[in-house]
Amino acid sequence: MKNSSVPRRPKAPKAHPAPLDATPPAPPPAPMAAKAALSVGGKSWELPILRGASGERAIDVTDLRAATGLVTYDPGLGNTAICESAITRIDGDKGELLLRGHPIERLTDHCSFVEVAYLLLHGALPTTDQRARFSELLNRHSLIHEDMRMFFRNFPEGAHPMAVLSAMVISLSSFYPELEALSAKEEADITATRLLSKLRTIAAFSYKKSVGEPFVYPSYKFSYCENFLNMMFSTSVSPYRAKDCEIQALNRLLILHADHEQNASTTAVRLVGSTGANLYASIAAGCNALWGPLHGGANQAVIEMLEGILAEGLTAKEAVRRAEDKNSGFRLMGFGHRVYKTTDPRAKIAKTLCRETIRRKRLEEPLFHLALELEEEAAKSAYFTDRGLYPNVDFYTGLTYRALGFPTNMFTVLFALGRLPGWIAHWMELKRSGAKLMRPRQLYVGPGKIPSK
Ligand code: CMC
Repeated sequence: MKNSSVPRRPKAPKAHPAPLDATPPAPPPAPMAAKAALSVGGKSWELPILRGASGERAIDVTDLRAATGLVTYDPGLGNTAICESAITRIDGDKGELLLRGHPIERLTDHCSFVEVAYLLLHGALPTTDQRARFSELLNRHSLIHEDMRMFFRNFPEGAHPMAVLSAMVISLSSFYPELEALSAKEEADITATRLLSKLRTIAAFSYKKSVGEPFVYPSYKFSYCENFLNMMFSTSVSPYRAKDCEIQALNRLLILHADHEQNASTTAVRLVGSTGANLYASIAAGCNALWGPLHGGANQAVIEMLEGILAEGLTAKEAVRRAEDKNSGFRLMGFGHRVYKTTDPRAKIAKTLCRETIRRKRLEEPLFHLALELEEEAAKSAYFTDRGLYPNVDFYTGLTYRALGFPTNMFTVLFALGRLPGWIAHWMELKRSGAKLMRPRQLYVGPGKIPSK
């Protein structure tokens, strides 16, 4: 029997100069001594096994097709590591999440969103001076070109703010083309900061457009989150001042979304980035992927589901029974996750935050009570526990946004605002790694044959 080794991966191409002042990229995972054996039709091959920083192992199939003529088949990419990354670590069985090595619980308790954005982009939390400079850059770049306001005007009444957000992000590339040059560290620093700052303005303007109110400009007086709340909710006829608890809650919500390794939208950002497309094009792709109800659109879908259950007069128990019935076409939105097979740690934080926000604002919120009952019922259901279906980040974040006064169609925009530093960090990491064009294979099952020569 022929026994050949699949050649070791070729050396990674020379990395681009690090565009941000990040922690040095982790060394590539070392191949382990043990190899995976593949045996097909009497022939066998050995495949290298790579080990990640926390012990996870991956069979390296980079050269599989060249050596064997075979490709791997993994629709949904549930078993495929598409890159090496040093940004975020999830333990889906234990329900743990670390951003640049920091537990999510510690970040939401002790940091502002701006500090976490800095952490993701630069690899370490900022010093006082670095934070001041970063905040100053965020303030300085928060305006968008006046001509872009015309674009907002021409969207139809009732346009979904996610459609507006995505269109505006890609439009930025024509207004700020110089930001595409990413050779110098300074340039890249400014690009990332500008985008973070401008997306906040665009998000608030897209809301103002949807309710037909004049835009409110960003102000130097406010912090990142307070500025956003002010742009959203103040009008020239009714003075508005965000409460500390609201600012704090928004900070925490945005931190919960800040990064989550290779989710669908981050993968979209990486895929588009791998073609050499600019940062704006890549981030617009991320916004579009996020919008889907199986991903970030789930926070809106949760509220719609809860309202539907109440309107129909279903009990939580009846709703869970319906979700267990595959023929009903009904899923419990905000439940289940590709990676977590236990409660998403972000859902635990969001649940506490939601309860606190409702209490502080003295709200009556029947949807929150229904959500608690659904969680309790689902925990008693073998259908849910056997499949590892527990609340995910979207189950309680939408309810918290609602308690803060945000309309339902803005929830996914808020998710995008929170996820932006993560998307940018992954895009930068991709560029630094000199990654190849992402171009998967398929199994063709349609008509017609390629004639043999
Ligand atoms: N309600 C009822 N059944 C479910 C649910 C749910 N929410 N989620 C998964 N299942 C069942 C599914 O029918 C399947 O059953 P079976 O094995 O008998 O065929 C099993 O659980 C596995 O589901 P899957 O769809 O194959 O799993 P996946 O890893 O592809 O899907 C998911 C993950 C998030 C798309 C899915 O759990 C889901 O649709 N959840 C509802 C939407 C949602 O809350 N999305 C937010 C995800 S987390 C935040 C984010 O990414 O933005």
